[in-house]
Amino acid sequence: MQKSCREVVQMNRKFDDLNEIGDIFALTGEIAREYLQAGEDAPVICADTSAFDPAAPLPARGDGAIAALDALKTDILPLVATSTGPRYLGFVTGGATPAAIVGDWMASAIDQNATGPDGTVTAAVEQQVINWICDLAGMPRGRFDGALTTGATASNLLAVVTARQWCGEQIGVDVDADGAIALPSFEIFSATPHASMIKDLSVAGVGRNNVTRIVTEPGTEAMHVHDLANKLENSTSKAKMVIASAGTVNATDFDDLVAIADLCAAYGAWLHVDAAFGLFAALDERRVHLLAGIERADSITSDGHKWLNVPYDCGIFLTRQISVLEKCFRAFAPYLASRAEGNSYINRGVENSRRFRALPLWMAIKAYGRAGMADIIRRNCDQARDLAHWVADHSGLVLLRDPQLNVVMFCGRGNDDANRDLLDRINGTGKVFLTPTIYNGRFGFRAAFSNWRTRDQDIEIIKDAINSVL
Ligand SMILES: Cc1ncc(COP(=O)(O)O)c(C=O)c1O
Repeated sequence: MQKSCREVVQMNRKFDDLNEIGDIFALTGEIAREYLQAGEDAPVICADTSAFDPAAPLPARGDGAIAALDALKTDILPLVATSTGPRYLGFVTGGATPAAIVGDWMASAIDQNATGPDGTVTAAVEQQVINWICDLAGMPRGRFDGALTTGATASNLLAVVTARQWCGEQIGVDVDADGAIALPSFEIFSATPHASMIKDLSVAGVGRNNVTRIVTEPGTEAMHVHDLANKLENSTSKAKMVIASAGTVNATDFDDLVAIADLCAAYGAWLHVDAAFGLFAALDERRVHLLAGIERADSITSDGHKWLNVPYDCGIFLTRQISVLEKCFRAFAPYLASRAEGNSYINRGVENSRRFRALPLWMAIKAYGRAGMADIIRRNCDQARDLAHWVADHSGLVLLRDPQLNVVMFCGRGNDDANRDLLDRINGTGKVFLTPTIYNGRFGFRAAFSNWRTRDQDIEIIKDAINSVL
């Protein structure tokens, strides 16, 4: 008698993952709990990952999920940085709140291709999340629409492509149909664009070098508005995009968005604001003024996986020209056609297949609300200020810039080489992780506070760690 598929699988394996799914999930929860609650003394980063062999042989048959979880525990987890922990201050690395983590797990369990409204609620959930983001940012609902992306880099790419299309349409050029070559005079103006923006200019075929650099206000990374005005005035290009910053990655400076929006209106330029983490300064009443004018942007980039502490990947793109975005990114084929009412996210970004990315963000906002998110932002800003005061008063350290938001830049009193060594020693303590930068031509360290779990006691541990290697 012929065996069923299931019987064949049973014969060849010592496990049955579908029947054991409860045990698998319970064990996963336990392993995740242990990882997230690693003791005070667990090192923040893994200094030596050589125990993991990338050339290991392919498992011929596999032993099922429980055995794979055991291997994860022994082979991988001991070598993973605890970047979800309270003293990982590298880059702008948000942690992951419990509600966001389980939202992420559920997105995998549901495993939906969240492209459109056909027979599923995922598109409506994404729409709701976009509304909530506008609410958190203090911007009127309905003024912006958008999509969730893999991150701010992807959102910045959507901005460049949409801006170029819109600029072309103002002068009768259809870049979507005829290509970038049809619009040779697309000019980008920016003072301190994030590295991802430069990458995106290459990807979009504009070119990394094709940025008209605006000088910065003395002692800051913020755009000098008079220089922008002069350069817009002298530009012969008919297609212009201004890329402004709401929170530069080093000094966390904000451009004067009101003045820049006025100039963009006067010169017919598209205004894009990169607010990857700075958008949520709107939740701190002491800093909300920094975002004045952002509602006049044509497009905005932000991230959920930074300051909202949602797991990767969770980028946010907002625009007031949603139909232009949809024109550039539309994907048409008879098998994709739909008569359902609602947004088609397949037409709002690069991917034709995309996970239910809205769910972790939805869970996080549902669980903690505006107040919970505001608490993270305000606490992190206070912690940055506390560390900055300590650095400023320290005889062996130099504060490179007063933090506007959540990032402290500082260095030791020695030269750049001495500071490179000092950074290695600080990170070598295993108590904290800082990343390097260059500010005003000087090598320094960045301490970026963006984790919901950072407590005031952690700042004391960080100070002790730095003192111990000075
Ligand atoms: C201002 C700014 N823009 C863009 C990015 C890129 O973000 P992502 O890594 O989410 O693509 C970052 C990352 O730190 C950033 O700070």
